[in-house]
Amino acid sequence: MNIGILGYGTVGRNVHKLLGAVDGVSVKYVLEQRGKLTESFMTPDPELILSDPDIELIVDALPGIHPSYEYMKEALSHGKHVVSSNKAAICFGFTELHELAKENHVSLLYEASCGGGIPIIEEILRIGALDDISRVSGILNGTSNYMLWQMDKAGMSYEDALRDAQRLGYAEADPTADVSGFDVKNKIIILSSLAFDGYVEKDIPMIGIEAITKEMMDGLRAQQKAVKLMGIAVKEGDRYALAVTPVIVSSLSLEANVPLNFNIVSFEGNYVGEVKLYGQGAGGDPTADAVVRDILKVARGDAACYERHFTKTLAYDPSLLRGRCHVGDRVLEDAVLAEASAQAIREQVPFAFEFNA
Ligand SMILES: NC(=O)c1ccc[n+]([C@@H]2O[C@H](COP(=O)([O-])OP(=O)(O)OC[C@H]3O[C@@H](n4cnc5c(N)ncnc54)[C@H](OP(=O)(O)O)[C@@H]3O)[C@@H](O)[C@H]2O)c1
Repeated sequence: MNIGILGYGTVGRNVHKLLGAVDGVSVKYVLEQRGKLTESFMTPDPELILSDPDIELIVDALPGIHPSYEYMKEALSHGKHVVSSNKAAICFGFTELHELAKENHVSLLYEASCGGGIPIIEEILRIGALDDISRVSGILNGTSNYMLWQMDKAGMSYEDALRDAQRLGYAEADPTADVSGFDVKNKIIILSSLAFDGYVEKDIPMIGIEAITKEMMDGLRAQQKAVKLMGIAVKEGDRYALAVTPVIVSSLSLEANVPLNFNIVSFEGNYVGEVKLYGQGAGGDPTADAVVRDILKVARGDAACYERHFTKTLAYDPSLLRGRCHVGDRVLEDAVLAEASAQAIREQVPFAFEFNA
């Protein structure tokens, strides 16, 4: 099978490297920026790749929504399978891209978009084929977890933790997508759509870690608690709610002990009970590993489980997410997260959520 890779940065380059050890898949073209064309297989012309009838599968390893979304649409329309690590573009065009894949009888796979190398989507789909999944939640952003970990364990200020994350290459020069919760928002939308088997609302409560202070963490530690940035989604019958928020957890919980830039995801099925997956949510090799696993699924004709139809019509009901809401210095018991977090934004005070006991 011939493939084309769009984007030759950390992920694209590592996918190419890992494919070197795989029989039956060869990289025909790589889309690279003009001025960085150092190899004969590189081209700056996306059309050369997207309209080549020899290419059966496109790997999207580009950053941001555009032009990645348009390239994926074109590839699917031309009857090519698409494997993407780009959560921003996948989330942006979630419905349209799935419908195009279905119309053209091709696969759209994106394991690497949520949790890097951790096989979250694979397991959600496998378990969701039998179970009714009623909850998905997790620490889905390594940069923010690294910063919170360093603030908690090494006593760093928010600013020092951000500088440290940037020095280690975990945070970009513009860290907004990581610290604002936007990256987690894309991931929890993708994961809950798959877990609940229906398209979900994208305009959801989103609170990042910008307002979390070392003092707040010191206070929580004295109560054997910690705070983590999490994506959370719940479903009851055909109603669901989801959000991105700092969550206060017991210091004995697995979540509180997820170190540095690691990720953890939990989901709950009616038969299997609670399942937790832990691992490296980013990095060249882990992410490329997830991309290559998806490519192999297509190459071996084993991608059918991804062809979701999203036939369930679900109703967004933010009132399902309620618990103890910390709005500045006040604690609102059994409050609706969406309402309490909106109040915190209006009052420009920190917000954190705690599940009802
Ligand atoms: N890195 C990870 O650990 C990880 C984990 C999970 C998911 N992802 C996702 O995977 C995608 C790729 O991430 P990455 O870390 O590999 O990013 P990256 O290192 O910044 O690589 C992206 C590459 O795409 C190139 N590029 C950008 N626009 C292009 C265009 N229009 N045409 C051709 N090339 C273009 C960039 O070139 P220039 O630098 O010259 O612009 C860069 O070489 C992103 O969507 C990211 O969110 C990454």
